[in-house]
Amino acid sequence: TGPFNPKEDGYAGKLPWWGEGWYRKSFKLDKADAGKRVYFDFDGVMAFPKVYVNGQLAGEWDYGYMSFRVDATPFVKFGADNVIAVYADTRKHGTRWYPGAGIYRKETMTINEPVHVAHWGTYVTTPEVADASAKVNVRTTIENGSKSKSKVSIEVTLLDPDGKMAATLKTDGVAIPGGGSKDVNQLFAIANPQRWDVTSPKLYTAKTIVRQGEKIVDTDTTTFGIREFKFTADDGFHLNGRRVQLYGVNLHHDHGALGAAFNTRAMERQLEIMREMGVNAIRTSHNPPAPELLELCDRMGFVVWDECFDKWDRTADRDPCKQPLEQYGEKQIRNFVQRDRNHPSIVVWSIGNEIDPQPGNKEGVSAERVKFMSDFFRKYDATRPVSMACHIPAVAQKKMLDAMDVGGWNYQRRYAQFRKTYPDKPVLYSESASAVSTRGFYELPLTDSHTQFSKTFQVSSYDRNSPDWADISDREFNLMEKDTFMAGEFVWTGFDYLGEPTPYNKQARSSYFGIVDLAGIPKDRFYLYRSHWRPDTLTVHILPHWNWPDRIDQNVPVYVYTNGDTVELFLNGQSLGKQTKAKESGTGYYGSIGKYRLCFNDVNYEPGELKAVAYKDGKEIGQEVMRTAGEPAKIRLTPDRKEISASGDDLCYVLIEALDANNTLCPLADNLIKFKIDGPAEIAGIDNGNPLSYEPFQDSEHKLFFGKAMLILRTKEGPGGDIRLIADSEGLTPAGVVVQSK
Ligand code: GAL
Repeated sequence: TGPFNPKEDGYAGKLPWWGEGWYRKSFKLDKADAGKRVYFDFDGVMAFPKVYVNGQLAGEWDYGYMSFRVDATPFVKFGADNVIAVYADTRKHGTRWYPGAGIYRKETMTINEPVHVAHWGTYVTTPEVADASAKVNVRTTIENGSKSKSKVSIEVTLLDPDGKMAATLKTDGVAIPGGGSKDVNQLFAIANPQRWDVTSPKLYTAKTIVRQGEKIVDTDTTTFGIREFKFTADDGFHLNGRRVQLYGVNLHHDHGALGAAFNTRAMERQLEIMREMGVNAIRTSHNPPAPELLELCDRMGFVVWDECFDKWDRTADRDPCKQPLEQYGEKQIRNFVQRDRNHPSIVVWSIGNEIDPQPGNKEGVSAERVKFMSDFFRKYDATRPVSMACHIPAVAQKKMLDAMDVGGWNYQRRYAQFRKTYPDKPVLYSESASAVSTRGFYELPLTDSHTQFSKTFQVSSYDRNSPDWADISDREFNLMEKDTFMAGEFVWTGFDYLGEPTPYNKQARSSYFGIVDLAGIPKDRFYLYRSHWRPDTLTVHILPHWNWPDRIDQNVPVYVYTNGDTVELFLNGQSLGKQTKAKESGTGYYGSIGKYRLCFNDVNYEPGELKAVAYKDGKEIGQEVMRTAGEPAKIRLTPDRKEISASGDDLCYVLIEALDANNTLCPLADNLIKFKIDGPAEIAGIDNGNPLSYEPFQDSEHKLFFGKAMLILRTKEGPGGDIRLIADSEGLTPAGVVVQSK
């Protein structure tokens, strides 16, 4: 919750995250459960968690992004009160962004009979997939926590995407030694399988029942998908037999104003917005994501690059001088792969990101380290290729990547060297673009170099800027069209995130890289990507805004992002001519712009109405209008959903905008808005997407930033009811909205 510390560097969001903390919770265990096993599962504790049960150390972990299990059985008391205490310490955690601190993901207590399905003990693979039938193998690991040998039966039923039984098998007489475990494989044949695909993410379910005699001792439910994919060296990525270009984004783990604490609805909303833009692939940069993200990708149809580490150093909570990478790597990778391997969405495992070679040091990339890290992945799941996001072409040239199945490369066509050294290995663009912009901010004259930045510490949204190692979006579009061997790109980044505010690392608290701002409001770039990635969906988007009182009769270039090929622009009814997209990219740094955007560079500003009429193949496909706004007169509230769940963690995102008397959005408004809530909800966060703002994320008032802000309501757990949000501001007509919590 802050507060921001303006004096701090912006790399970790200027937010507090460094220190120690404790959590304590009391719980009762039934006397009747005596003899059972008691486990605590954590999906992530930042960092170096130690878990104490009734005062004794029951378990610990050494990577803040990793899920882990603690066996509390020896320390608990049945029929009595117990205390679990969790200690977190971020002081040795290294980071390049806001990591959060403490327990930030789900934790679960599981009570099991001594004989049960092991943690992450169900492993589903699909060794053969064809249209007529698919083979599905379910491997179940059964653990026996008692001293004596036990015999069980294992029944696994597969349900099809409509919930109907597709196949069932029962294996009897499985003997499990006391204190030991056993793997049981069951191979199913499914006729006419329904494929999991990005266009129709069909999911099957495996229901497992473990019995001792007639008694059910454990059950387990696992979702999985039937699909085939391959990365090819010369023709990109194929899913279920057809080539699918990866339109990907990188996503960091935070949820903007909600911080690092995971929230399923916040994640789902991010994915919905990305989907709307045309995204079909997510890279979980640079850490194991919350498991719910993978469940959402399975359900919504995104393929995933699942990444285990940034570097193999303190960003992974590893002290390279103290801990051999082999030992550390296998331990982390085991948990990671066992946890994630049933997700059909995952198509690549990643062993790390931009790790320097650094000869002689214990954390750098070498052929040997790439091999053993990749092999650990294959040991736990051999059904997916292993990759790494690389950035130094010499690493490829020196053949350090022999053990990698797929090349992952960041920025500026550095993949070219890899392609030369490894012509038979597939390759994809693990990070592309890294273009930067501030939503709503435009500066003139236009930049003539991509690294020319504004003195205002904001980045112009004419989309002509990126740091020197990076590129504007259009250049990457052009590369992906030309280099058809590439499987596609993962743009850095889909959303702005807390920290890494390049190019204003000192001044700002959140990034400028996002295609969508930190508040979840699309920037202009969103429409550039959508126009290119969704060629069949209507996009006509005009920029900049049309409020330039200081530039009357002066030049204000106008860009239009559209899926059409031609645009005619009108200013106050007068045609300013037609522009058509170039077939080929031109020369110079900005040469590719004309291929993807329609630029009207010679417009002289006069207030009024700009209208863009878009054409495709000579036919009009749509229009868009941008008007000069008058003074702010009223507030508009637009909730993303009108009905939410009274679960206590469901969210409603309410967009707040200032309008003039004619309902035109006021693109420069920065009014302070005050909020009142009546009903079973609270303000979970407020933000306006301004990377320079130090206003708290949790408050009952906030300023607009270029006309907009976002308020996030969180329901209270209970019977629900009407939630009334009122927004008020001096001189503006207030607004109210009712959302139902059910
Ligand atoms: C890459 C890095 C990312 C991010 C990005 C910003 O080199 O892998 O984590 O820092 O640069 O452009």
